[in-house]
Amino acid sequence: MATDATATATAVRYGIIGMGMMGREHLLNLYHLRNENVIVTCIADPHLPSQQLALDLAKSFGWSLQVYSGHKDLLEGGECDVVVVSTPNMTHYQILMDIINHPRPHHVLVEKPLCTSVADCKKVVNAAKTRSDMIVQVGLEYRYMPAVAKLINIVKGGSVGPVKMVAIREHRFPFLVKVNNWNRFNVNTGGTLVEKCCHFFDLMRLFAGSNPVRVMASGAMDVNHRDEVYDGRRPDIIDNAYVIVEFDNGARGVLDLCMFAEGSRNEQEISVVGEIGKGEAFVPESIVRFGTRAAGREGVRTLKAEDDRIKYDGLHHGSSYLEHLNFLYAIRAEGEKVPAVSLQDGLISVAIGVAAQLSIEKHKLVTIDEVMHEYNARDTSNTNDCC
Ligand SMILES: NC(=O)c1ccc[n+]([C@@H]2O[C@H](COP(=O)([O-])OP(=O)(O)OC[C@H]3O[C@@H](n4cnc5c(N)ncnc54)[C@H](O)[C@@H]3O)[C@@H](O)[C@H]2O)c1
Repeated sequence: MATDATATATAVRYGIIGMGMMGREHLLNLYHLRNENVIVTCIADPHLPSQQLALDLAKSFGWSLQVYSGHKDLLEGGECDVVVVSTPNMTHYQILMDIINHPRPHHVLVEKPLCTSVADCKKVVNAAKTRSDMIVQVGLEYRYMPAVAKLINIVKGGSVGPVKMVAIREHRFPFLVKVNNWNRFNVNTGGTLVEKCCHFFDLMRLFAGSNPVRVMASGAMDVNHRDEVYDGRRPDIIDNAYVIVEFDNGARGVLDLCMFAEGSRNEQEISVVGEIGKGEAFVPESIVRFGTRAAGREGVRTLKAEDDRIKYDGLHHGSSYLEHLNFLYAIRAEGEKVPAVSLQDGLISVAIGVAAQLSIEKHKLVTIDEVMHEYNARDTSNTNDCC
């Protein structure tokens, strides 16, 4: 049981399933939210080194944790009201279904991607509809990065006019090494464009203010992981791609992904152009630029993006902190406030990623209808048992 002095009868009690890099990041964020009267009481992870790292971390700030090796025991333990799911992507589906089907309600924050296939996402979305006593939020946290959030405000405030083009460039370092190297294989991640780029497809859809219709992509594994072998298997994940997304309202999005681009000033550069103006966001510089066609180049303003609610920057520029803060408000509002990132948002971000992966594989333009219905109907038999 937790021993922290802030824990009271009214504390919101969290359990975390999966104590790898992100699980410990959630633990740290929740510790920095302790003044909001939250506490982590229990964790689940079958990997002893991950358990130990989490225990050491919790001990360093005076929390003791009940430890389980699996999520079912954690749910049976009755020590938490809220569950954070931060396990490898291919495990999300079964863990979510077990949480949703458990007689005791638990609010859930699930890491992105919601699941690795559209079929599994849809099953989770449908199952959650039967649980009005639970709030489920998807961890598409890039929405909360201060520069991105500021650009969202500018665009949603109408300053660029109706959005026509959204260009997102992510140029960064290769995928990190994960526990048991799960992230080296498409079958575990859903593919690079699902695994990491669901963040960007979510942002594109948000900026476009419309749903995706069709996707065209080109990509490959050209530089990274080529000499890696795991149990005789070579990684099959792509490390660079261009993806074009067309939206229902005529807006277009493009993703430029490169994962061998350590020599970049920014990791993410986002440009949104509307009929009357243009906004840009740069991360980690945390700068936003905004200008209009009428004012021209001289009129472009550069604004620093900051959010003084952030008490812990962590690995993602404070976005995990704000994500938790918003999730907590939704929990405390007891159903009067919907989660900031819904299961439907999670589903559509995966659908765009799946369509992009399929476009690369088949060398063709792929409609969202295809992945939501036809392709996915065929896919179901393969994906249901993946967990
Ligand atoms: N929000 C972000 O930007 C962001 C960044 C990194 C990772 N993620 C997501 O977080 C999740 C975890 O990624 P990570 O980087 O922490 O991976 P990781 O490999 O560092 O940690 C995963 C942990 O989950 C544990 N685990 C595996 N199966 C489990 C099960 N059935 N029950 C309980 N624990 C289990 C592993 O033992 C490991 O300790 C993934 O879905 C990933 O996509 C999100």
